[in-house]
Amino acid sequence: MRIHFRHAAGALIATTALTVALAGAAAAQDAAFGKSIWLTQANCAECHGWMGDGVQEIPQQPQGANLRQTTLTLEQLSEVIMCGRPGTPMPHYDPRAYTDARCYGMTAAQIGNQAPPPAGFSFIKRHFDALAAFILSDFAGKGPPTKASCVALLGNENPRCERMP
Ligand code: HEC
Repeated sequence: MRIHFRHAAGALIATTALTVALAGAAAAQDAAFGKSIWLTQANCAECHGWMGDGVQEIPQQPQGANLRQTTLTLEQLSEVIMCGRPGTPMPHYDPRAYTDARCYGMTAAQIGNQAPPPAGFSFIKRHFDALAAFILSDFAGKGPPTKASCVALLGNENPRCERMP
């Protein structure tokens, strides 16, 4: 009886460890995909800066939030990217946002002039989730960008990193 119990407990621990390991691997994979979108397929840096610190790469663009200080969860980050933020310049990356109730339960008619602008990208949930995973792994709670973290993200050649401490 005792032996059986030990076996069962051992199997449970092994299964739990495997589940945690797989979830960790999936998150890392998502973050890597998110990083490639951030660096090569989206325009987030125009407003948020390459290092996510809210210092625009294009000064004429509105200043984005400092993503290094975000307190949002993965789900909340994903939703903001998909739906934008009503009443602010944070655009929506789902081209069908506000065509139905998928975003904050509101259609274009309901949200009126508070509708965030369309970003002009056709991203899907896989992209929103990957960007959210990347923000959590590389920016959230990491403090101001340093030369080392800048070089790690953008590579040695980027002159932007030279200006960092
Ligand atoms: C046109 C400028 C602009 C672009 C492009 C842009 N953002 Fe934003 N973003 C903003 C602004 C402005 C805010 C702050 C909105 C507010 O006042 O709450 C914001 C807020 C956010 C937030 C919420 C942060 C928080 O903690 O509340 C996230 C997450 C975010 N942006 C991610 C992204 C990602 C990822 C991209 C690219 C796929 C992107 N943004 C592109 C302007 C932009």
